[in-house]
Amino acid sequence: MTDTRGDTPEKQLAGESVVVTGGSGFIGRSLVRRLQQAGADVTVADLDPSTHGGPTVVGDLNDPRVRDRAVPEGTSAIVHLAALTSVLESVERPEQVFRTNVDVTHGLLELARRRGVERVLFASTNAVTGDVGDAVIDESMPLRPLTPYGSSKAAAEMLLSASTACYGVACCALRLANVYGPGMGHKDSFVPRLMRAALDDVPVTVYGDGEQVRDLVHVHDVSEAFVTAWLADATGPVIVGSGTSSSVLDMVAAAREATGQELPVRHVDPRPGEMPAVVVDTSRARGLGWAPRVGLTAGMAAVWDEFRRAGVVPATGATGATGATGATGAIGATATAAAAAL
Ligand SMILES: NC(=O)c1ccc[n+]([C@@H]2O[C@H](COP(=O)([O-])OP(=O)(O)OC[C@H]3O[C@@H](n4cnc5c(N)ncnc54)[C@H](O)[C@@H]3O)[C@@H](O)[C@H]2O)c1
Repeated sequence: MTDTRGDTPEKQLAGESVVVTGGSGFIGRSLVRRLQQAGADVTVADLDPSTHGGPTVVGDLNDPRVRDRAVPEGTSAIVHLAALTSVLESVERPEQVFRTNVDVTHGLLELARRRGVERVLFASTNAVTGDVGDAVIDESMPLRPLTPYGSSKAAAEMLLSASTACYGVACCALRLANVYGPGMGHKDSFVPRLMRAALDDVPVTVYGDGEQVRDLVHVHDVSEAFVTAWLADATGPVIVGSGTSSSVLDMVAAAREATGQELPVRHVDPRPGEMPAVVVDTSRARGLGWAPRVGLTAGMAAVWDEFRRAGVVPATGATGATGATGATGAIGATATAAAAAL
């Protein structure tokens, strides 16, 4: 795997004791490495074991005893990534999403308040703003989420806001665009579907004409954004995206270049209600000193490297090699559209 980050041995977080919930997941694994590189002492709290070489609390954070073990006295920061992340599943199981994404966040903020944790960095999403048409999304837009997933993240952001205002915990919600990069073999989003199609030498399914645009940001850039937000003492929402919008066909072209495969496209009917564009304004993040560094083709090449070495990896809940995330089924058009915005 190509590590596209710089290798400067920065130690700005030396001696900081940080708990990363969801640290065994896709973004978590990359972020844990980055925090360790910055000198932090990292504890991972996750349903799944971690290989980061430090303390791990394996368990369900819905259980207060697990949270209690995860955030001991002396913790300086909590990076909260653990969540139910599937938008479409959230529509089917809103209660479970509320418990895991909202209740757990509240429980962690309570621990932060009682144990004097100075900082909470939270993985939010641009889906909190809902469908904004062709407008460029910035942090000042009203929150109008369209799904239980989006609303759970918006609700969690509100809890963070109160925690900063009332108790002085420096809470920052990083609103992530579509994250891609090495470590996403278990995912069923468009980039892994491109990789599976390339491996299987089959066409990739594209809804509609493929001109709909999204913002893809590399996982290493996302990890860097968390470190930047910490060092800049940021609070409130910060949008993290590449700032470059790519059409679905641009993504196919980048995947062709990265994989060297033909990757034919099979166009199917557009998904009803799908947003034509997700365009984000990353000025606030850039103002903190962050800038994305990994371009789409180089980023895809690193993903391809991993997929090629691992062979075909079935996605969690995938419907097939080029399985269609967001097949409408019983789920409404607005939810499908919002799923595309994750
Ligand atoms: N990947 C993206 O494109 C994207 C975009 C916007 C926001 N986010 C947010 O970033 C965060 C990380 O996403 P990811 O893509 O790495 O997802 P992921 O599914 O790969 O990782 C999530 C991790 O959380 C853990 N987890 C879930 N529920 C838990 C529980 N009850 N107790 C303990 N651990 C639990 C899982 O085991 C998993 O390791 C999530 O909060 C997600 O909503 C991701």
